[in-house]
Amino acid sequence: MTQHVIYPGTFDPLTNGHVDMVERAAGIFENIVIAVAKSAGKEPRFSMEERVDMCKEVFKHLKNVSVESFDGLLVEFAKTKNATLILRGLRSASDFDFEFQLAGMNKTMLPAIETVYMSASKETVAISSTIVREIAAMGGDVSAFVPPVVANHF
Ligand code: COA
Repeated sequence: MTQHVIYPGTFDPLTNGHVDMVERAAGIFENIVIAVAKSAGKEPRFSMEERVDMCKEVFKHLKNVSVESFDGLLVEFAKTKNATLILRGLRSASDFDFEFQLAGMNKTMLPAIETVYMSASKETVAISSTIVREIAAMGGDVSAFVPPVVANHF
């Protein structure tokens, strides 16, 4: 069966964890839309345009991956794409607790939607966008955690 999947996130910034997820998913799903969310919380470190552009640059070698932004509910964006599958990454049990809530509430709002999960690889399991931002803000080197395009943006 043909499968189109949406991979949503804030990507503030895109990390090697996200890259690992998308590269593995690109070999499984026919088509992946990376959906860059405006921001769940306060002002993001990178503007929407910067986050979209960095994703486009990093994934330009993957022909079945596209990048779009959305503002508002993920389920509304999924409807506009006729997508019924959401992909999320899991690093830990605490990720699972949050993801379980997200998936449940999304499914209540849009019963046709299913969320599938992939576990983070052991090389990327400890990476967090929040900690990357903190290291960069204190002048640290983040090149071990993010693609070069992203590291150059700090
Ligand atoms: N490896 C390493 N780290 C990973 C990873 C992986 N495979 N996958 C995710 N992460 C990390 C990120 O680095 C980030 O780190 P942090 O914990 O320091 O922030 C964290 O996991 C999650 O970031 P991200 O992947 O960008 O996703 P998010 O949690 O910001 O995304 C949305 C949340 C956008 C999906 C959600 O807020 C949403 O759907 N918003 C739209 C509004 C909406 O519909 N709300 C109702 C939902 S029910």
